Amino acid sequence: MREPKTYFIRTYGCQMNELDTEIMAGQLQKRGLTPALDEETADILIFNTCSIRDLAERKVMGKLGKMGRGKKQHCLIGVTGCMAMAKKDALFRKFPHLDFVLGTNNITDLGTMIDEALYTRRQIFKTEDKFEENLDYLSAKRDNKIKASVSIIRGCDKFCTYCVVPYTRGQEVSRPPESIVEECRRLVDQGYKEITLLGQNVNSYGKDQPEWNCLFHDLLYRLDRIPGMERIRFMTSHPVDITLDLMQAIRDLPSLCEFVHFPIQAGSNRILKKMHRIYTKEQYFEKVELLRQTVPDVSLGTDIIVGFPTETEEEFQETCDALKQIRYSLAFIFAYSSRKGTPAMRWKDDVPEEVKLDRLQRLLDLQNEISNEERQLMLGNTYEVLVERLNRDGRQLKGRTRCWKKVIFEGDESLIGTLQKVKVHSYSHQTLLGELAKTPHLKVV
Ligand code: 5AD
Ligand code: SF4
Repeated sequence: MREPKTYFIRTYGCQMNELDTEIMAGQLQKRGLTPALDEETADILIFNTCSIRDLAERKVMGKLGKMGRGKKQHCLIGVTGCMAMAKKDALFRKFPHLDFVLGTNNITDLGTMIDEALYTRRQIFKTEDKFEENLDYLSAKRDNKIKASVSIIRGCDKFCTYCVVPYTRGQEVSRPPESIVEECRRLVDQGYKEITLLGQNVNSYGKDQPEWNCLFHDLLYRLDRIPGMERIRFMTSHPVDITLDLMQAIRDLPSLCEFVHFPIQAGSNRILKKMHRIYTKEQYFEKVELLRQTVPDVSLGTDIIVGFPTETEEEFQETCDALKQIRYSLAFIFAYSSRKGTPAMRWKDDVPEEVKLDRLQRLLDLQNEISNEERQLMLGNTYEVLVERLNRDGRQLKGRTRCWKKVIFEGDESLIGTLQKVKVHSYSHQTLLGELAKTPHLKVV
């Protein structure tokens, strides 16, 4: 067997998976491996997978099925991520050409897995339920030089009835604040301008470790104090855990962006109860109201599931009404997908596929209208934009406002990685179009 020299990791799913890929890439590079140009030529090929919805799983299954024929070129093929946790060694039966399966709690063991798989030539898997806390975050290999994600809490204890995450990523485990502050300080020293704090439910941060005396808002105050910290974001939140302390932190901390991803999931109390979201529509609206009073310029994002088992047209209308009332600036809308091992699996997936797709489209159209009205209101205003890169046309610059709105404008490449004031004059589809502001007036949104 030849010694592997190159690797390629194909990432599916959420930002947490993207970060895990960066951590695994860091470990592989420490071993002297270099990134391959593409999947085909990689000596070690890894699929870092997602199982949140059926479609995400099917994509990987299709890919792995096809890989069988090309196996000869690769020294090793591995599966990591949520599908590894959900299917474990059953994956070997379906894909005999797979060499290893590594769970979300064991990515520290990637090196040993590779050695074992190479030298024993046996199929091996490690998918423990307990999170390995000594993860080497500091060696993560980041391609983006302006924005970085930092994991602060892993797992989820909420057990919404439709969701596989508590099973694939285990229970909530917070990362020590010192380790987070150290990583963020290093990133800022390296020139990073925006840090996204990641967790399935960042608002639970610190609750599992009361002796640390550091809840999520306490952590934010510590991170904001890092000299040179420009922007902090966080993803994602459970509405129940959004506290007044957190709202006040968003209002008071200069680096903390005024955008909260605040997933409602459904607008009907009966469905919310069936989803085990542990809030009523009224309690959710109250929190939004309090947040808007505390941070008047705040923008909200949401996730919504349509076609949950037994959802009626009237109940779906309640979700539409919630969207109209709250006016999110961003909504991720999904058709319900029944997941093995979840409590909702017990109920019949009884909303026909065409009804789900129809509800999905109606909600997307409604959100589109709301977002367009919001963009109209932004015309003529000036916003702080972090310039991230050249636009696809290679001429204009592209960046995001503090509230995560995409903006394109004319400017010199040297502005990449800086914060600029941009006056918005129009928009096209989802993107705002603007020009560098000549006046110092700035409306921070
Ligand atoms: N079907 C459809 N959407 C789902 N999500 C989670 N589980 C499912 C499922 N079984 C959505 C939720 C969650 C987002 C990350 O994915 O809206 O907030
Ligand atoms: Fe899944 Fe609910 Fe946890 Fe979010 S809060 S990860 S939807 S179980």
